[in-house]
Amino acid sequence: MKIPKLTIGNITSNIPIIQGAMGVKVSLSSLSSAVANEGGIGTIASVGLGDIEASKNEYERASREALEKEIRKAKSLTDGHIAVNIMGVLSNADDLVKTTVREGIKIIVFGAGLPLKLPALVEDNSVNLLPIISSGRAAELILRSWDRLIS
Ligand SMILES: Cc1cc2nc3c(=O)[nH]c(=O)nc-3n(C[C@H](O)[C@H](O)[C@H](O)COP(=O)(O)O)c2cc1C
Repeated sequence: MKIPKLTIGNITSNIPIIQGAMGVKVSLSSLSSAVANEGGIGTIASVGLGDIEASKNEYERASREALEKEIRKAKSLTDGHIAVNIMGVLSNADDLVKTTVREGIKIIVFGAGLPLKLPALVEDNSVNLLPIISSGRAAELILRSWDRLIS
């Protein structure tokens, strides 16, 4: 069987599979790099990497450091495509987006919230922004907002 490639922006994966994000330390460097090594797009989930009992600042710092660590580890395990999933409802979503971009990830899969302002946060336009949405209306809102931001 001929399996088609998947192209998203400037990225082409050999097989059309994007591994779903599983937060709270389920999909980290190990799973995502294994998927990427098989030719798919592996996903690191960024939710729940810090200790939720900690103070807000401490949680944000721990989440950032753990995400940096997982991204670096994934990159050391694969030359394939790695995405980071960020949930918009998180209080530290912006910080996770900035950390992801700073660490050189080129695919952000954004769920649990409408990423209306995401392009303003991600100045590097080689980063592909993939919203997870469930309606045409949400797509329309996002595209209208992104259009306003970049034009
Ligand atoms: C244990 C678990 C954790 C998940 N965590 C996340 C998450 O952090 N972010 C997210 O966008 N989706 C999350 N999901 C959703 C999956 O990425 C995926 O979209 C979903 O499981 C696919 O649909 P299905 O379970 O109906 O097949 C999670 C799913 C599971 C089973």
